[in-house]
Amino acid sequence: MLLTIPALLNPAQIDKLTQLLQQGDFVDGKLSAGRAASPVKQNEELAQSPELLQRLYRIIMPALGHHADFRRATLPRQVADFIFARYQPGMRYGDHVDDPIMGGGKFRSDISMTLFLSDPNDYEGGELVIHTHFGEQTIKLDAGSAVIYPSSSLHRVAEVTRGERLVALTWIQSFVRDPQKRTLLYDLDQVRETLLQQQPDIEHTKRLDRSYVNLLRMWSEI
Ligand code: NI
Repeated sequence: MLLTIPALLNPAQIDKLTQLLQQGDFVDGKLSAGRAASPVKQNEELAQSPELLQRLYRIIMPALGHHADFRRATLPRQVADFIFARYQPGMRYGDHVDDPIMGGGKFRSDISMTLFLSDPNDYEGGELVIHTHFGEQTIKLDAGSAVIYPSSSLHRVAEVTRGERLVALTWIQSFVRDPQKRTLLYDLDQVRETLLQQQPDIEHTKRLDRSYVNLLRMWSEI
């Protein structure tokens, strides 16, 4: 499932993050690239600075945790530490799939997330292009909005030709590994939420709620 999550961060949070990022040192992104990705990766990433990263995570992690749509769509078991990437003119990231194992062997990447931090009017190019069964999807979102997509999808970042593209990236291991099952659960959950709000006491609502819960139990991996 490819899903856009609008306004994951609010403008004040974006301002604070970008201010903090201006204080950071950025290094060649190839340093963190897997073997296949390294030749096609041309970007910069925030250097490891525990104190600065802590301050960034203190803004971003609660926003993620409180976002219902993010939780429903990803069913997160584990969320990787964010990477902050910067693309300046001439930088791009060619077609690749993301690394399968993250956190030094601690978990599997099922879902990739790109959180856009720059105003799209402030740079040209820099679109995230994801290959799907229905053709290529080109994504360039407002600052503070995010897209999630299966980590197995082939994707690239188009060359930035003007300005600067800042993004925060993370990877999620889901309780439900199969993207098709996650999509079904997400759709069912939307209906369930609506019914629970509008007609909480009717038998259909209770039955659908139980079915969702038990389907999630059936498909979850711990
Ligand atoms: Ni990638």
